[in-house]
Amino acid sequence: MPPPRAPRQAVSRGVRGAGPTEESRAYAALVPSNASRISRSWEWSAQDVGAGARSRSRQATRQSLSYELMVKQYQADGRAAVVDFRALVGPLPADEQTHGIYPYPARLLRHIPRFLLGCEQLAVADDMVLDPFCGSGTVLLEAIGWGHRATGLDTNPLAVLVSRVKIQPLQAHHAQQAAAELVKRARELRAPAPPATFLRKWYTPSAYGVLEHLTAALPELHVDPRVRDQLQLSVALLADSASNRDLRVPVPVRSKLPSRHAELDNAEYFAAFLRHVDRVSRAGARLPEVLADRAQVRLADVRQAVQLVTPPGTAGLIITSPPYGSAQKYVRSCSLGLGWLGETEDSGTALLERASIGREHLRASETAAWPVRRNWPTTVTSTLAKVYERSGPRAALYAHYFADMADAFVGAVPALRVGGRFVLIAGANTVAGKQVATHALLAEMLASRGDLRLELVVSNRIRSRQLLTKRGRSAPPIADEYIYVFEKRH
Ligand SMILES: C[S@@+](CC[C@H](N)C(=O)[O-])C[C@H]1O[C@@H](n2cnc3c(N)ncnc32)[C@H](O)[C@@H]1O
Repeated sequence: MPPPRAPRQAVSRGVRGAGPTEESRAYAALVPSNASRISRSWEWSAQDVGAGARSRSRQATRQSLSYELMVKQYQADGRAAVVDFRALVGPLPADEQTHGIYPYPARLLRHIPRFLLGCEQLAVADDMVLDPFCGSGTVLLEAIGWGHRATGLDTNPLAVLVSRVKIQPLQAHHAQQAAAELVKRARELRAPAPPATFLRKWYTPSAYGVLEHLTAALPELHVDPRVRDQLQLSVALLADSASNRDLRVPVPVRSKLPSRHAELDNAEYFAAFLRHVDRVSRAGARLPEVLADRAQVRLADVRQAVQLVTPPGTAGLIITSPPYGSAQKYVRSCSLGLGWLGETEDSGTALLERASIGREHLRASETAAWPVRRNWPTTVTSTLAKVYERSGPRAALYAHYFADMADAFVGAVPALRVGGRFVLIAGANTVAGKQVATHALLAEMLASRGDLRLELVVSNRIRSRQLLTKRGRSAPPIADEYIYVFEKRH
């Protein structure tokens, strides 16, 4: 069923302002920045969480001034300036705190929340920061680093595990000792229960056996839940590194290179597991103890569960980068780890994929019956109508995406207190051969609610987002992402 054709109607000035970046100015030059000071101020604030207000460093004031300048300029000309957040914040070490513990797809560039969370217009010390699509927890870690509290939701169990590990300080020797005990027990274990069958083709018998024994022995180990999380994450990392998948491709495809694993024996896979534990636990030990229990993460669907986690009006700030419509394969990219952690069906990840927004496939009944909402902005319905002219199934996929995102906003926005900010970070997609400004459509959906006022739009050129997939020749990877800041008015 095609969507109703929408009459042409002007979109709000602010959202239309997020136009092509060629028209925009390079912002970094306008904004005073000192890279190393920004990084250090974040660490100071982390150490000062207990002490409260002292955590607002001079650099935070500087960032707030930069923010004010951006808002003034945007309000004056309605254009989205290009901000080079890397230049603004400066180089950050690759192994900073726990940021690098897992290569989660499409992680947010941490410079963006590093900058925004330090601006006092957006959050003050101790504020609750909500990321309803938290993925691997980039925003959560940045938020607690700045002295805020944080809550994250995600439907991908591996994302939730990574986020939990990312935000909990723990001395390295706890997990290292538990891992040694786990390996000892795994070696002694006889005939463990077989894991999901879809996993078998990805491993040599030796790698498969080691993972089978480790995952069977893990539930029997009595350890602190934080230690268990680190061990589970290390299993997920081994699930990829010990597999035959091509690690250069974001989703599992069999490597065409000569097998790295043909010659390896059990002892080498156990050693590889211990190396993963070592890396993860050392990262956890870099977090200051004072950050413990400042953030929480839930395996939950933003469309249903936000109120249970963040009661209405309790979040001072929402910062989130939602899933892209069918361009991102979060669950599939993590399928081996999810399989070994017992989070999949026997045949794979279909159920988990169905539970998340931005699906790649619909069932026949879903393609036939589109969700069309009367309160959608006309730009959304007219975009869907144009996509429908090129491809009915793709249009159906996007109609479901926008309906899901509308429900996500209905779930998340009430969590924000009046005066709080909603920061949306999103980009464009290529759909059936044409670019769709998904970011602007999502922003229009937020603006059309009536309780949010657009304060600022800037754009950032994407260089590092992973898992931006190419669909044949017609879909270039996403090149810019836009940052929309809304203020909650009532
Ligand atoms: C762009 S990623 C977020 C990446 C994150 N900012 C990071 O740095 O790792 C979007 C996330 O939304 C999650 N997601 C999809 N549908 C969801 C839903 N209904 N509720 C909560 N999370 C969902 C996906 O699993 C994915 O982790």
